[in-house]
Amino acid sequence: MPDKTLVKRYILNFHERNFEGIIPRELDVKTLPGRATVIVGPRRAGKTYYLFSLVDKNAPERYLYVDFEHPIFHPMTPGDFIEVLDAYRELYPEIKRPVVMLDEVQAIPDWERIVRYLLDEDYTVYVTGSSSKLLSREVATHLRGRSLTYTLFPLSFREFLRFKGVEYRGKKFYQNLTRINRLLEEYLHFGAYPEVALAPEDVRELILRDYLDVLIKKDVLERHRIKNVHLLNELLYFSLRAYSKYVSFDSLYRLFKGRLKVTKRTIANYFAYLEEAFALFLVRKYGRSPKGRIVAPRKLYLIDTGLPIFGEKDMARDAENTVFLELMRRYSTRAGVEITYWKDENGREVDFVISENGKAKELIQVSLRLEDEKTRGREFLALLHASKRLGCKNLKVITLGEEGIEKVALYGMEGRIKLVPLTHWLLQEA
Ligand SMILES: Nc1ncnc2c1ncn2[C@@H]1O[C@H](COP(=O)(O)OP(=O)(O)OP(=O)(O)O)[C@@H](O)[C@H]1O
Ligand SMILES: [Mg+2]
Repeated sequence: MPDKTLVKRYILNFHERNFEGIIPRELDVKTLPGRATVIVGPRRAGKTYYLFSLVDKNAPERYLYVDFEHPIFHPMTPGDFIEVLDAYRELYPEIKRPVVMLDEVQAIPDWERIVRYLLDEDYTVYVTGSSSKLLSREVATHLRGRSLTYTLFPLSFREFLRFKGVEYRGKKFYQNLTRINRLLEEYLHFGAYPEVALAPEDVRELILRDYLDVLIKKDVLERHRIKNVHLLNELLYFSLRAYSKYVSFDSLYRLFKGRLKVTKRTIANYFAYLEEAFALFLVRKYGRSPKGRIVAPRKLYLIDTGLPIFGEKDMARDAENTVFLELMRRYSTRAGVEITYWKDENGREVDFVISENGKAKELIQVSLRLEDEKTRGREFLALLHASKRLGCKNLKVITLGEEGIEKVALYGMEGRIKLVPLTHWLLQEA
């Protein structure tokens, strides 16, 4: 049972805190009566700061923010939360119902009972938690039909420029173009965690190292009580070298089995844990046949392009990974929309197929070396083949700088391909 005097002090401290310096994010969450607004996402993406940004600076007392990882809330049962509400009411008897913000809810066993109680009493409730325990799947089971779940990713390039204080809209884009291009390089190299974006260059690597450690230790090892730490580390470092490339569990199995105690099952499980913790994404091949989709290799993308500083850096792959993350920001909440890759039996590949209810809507290649004639021919040809097969005419190549529309005719196929520089594409309003 938390000490009421301490709880009151805690509540007041929050209301007296300085809300300056919190930079607005693009995520625009909604609230609905009877539903909790849940924000999940990788560690350090800015979930807590996002909650702070929702507080009305002119009336912070209308908010009851509780960080369940704070020692004064331990131990606590769901029933004890009534005490916290009482403490708030004694401080502000004139306010009938504060907006309740529950951070790190996973720290309290049976936290969903608190949320259901608050919803039944008509409170507006926001919930966040570290990805390790508060996963969308868990929320979906515990708060079935009673939540709106959003994912907060690290910064988009638009947000990144805002964090850097650089304007990019309208003519500002052209006035600041040199800086924007330099910042794009930084964004690709050091990634998009808010704290890394704000930190001086000489500490960025240290911060990223720390993030990687927390992610692995807390969100994967401890959560799943993993015994084969060595294998997990191998898979992680493999991923930091193989991002924007194909992975197949079979070939990884063959690679490791001589040296390590390993089964195919363990490899698949560990990748699933890494995905759950938002460390990486495994993208499937586009296709109708469920079997073909399952056996085909996946394409691996990381949650942040700063992390491969500890693996193997490659700018072209950073760009592809960045495009993937931006596609996730734009489409991951849209029902029926799926992001896959395409590859045919002759090895022709298209990086991204965006489909809606199975129907391809847009085909995207990411290619920074389009001025090379061979590369150009290969990328265009793959797009035309995919276009014909999937019946989709919306074709795009994201380039380093080339812009325009190319009418391409090859081997009896033809199409219009839009070339868009990466900066422009990333800065489009989602
Ligand atoms: N909107 C923002 N404005 C300014 N700084 C921010 C913002 N969002 C995040 N940061 C910086 O990034 C750090 C991490 O953000 P925050 O604590 O909100 O992440 P989190 O997602 O809650 O992480 P965790 O899962 O570890 O609790 C902050 O301490 C702050 O330095
Ligand atoms: Mg937090």
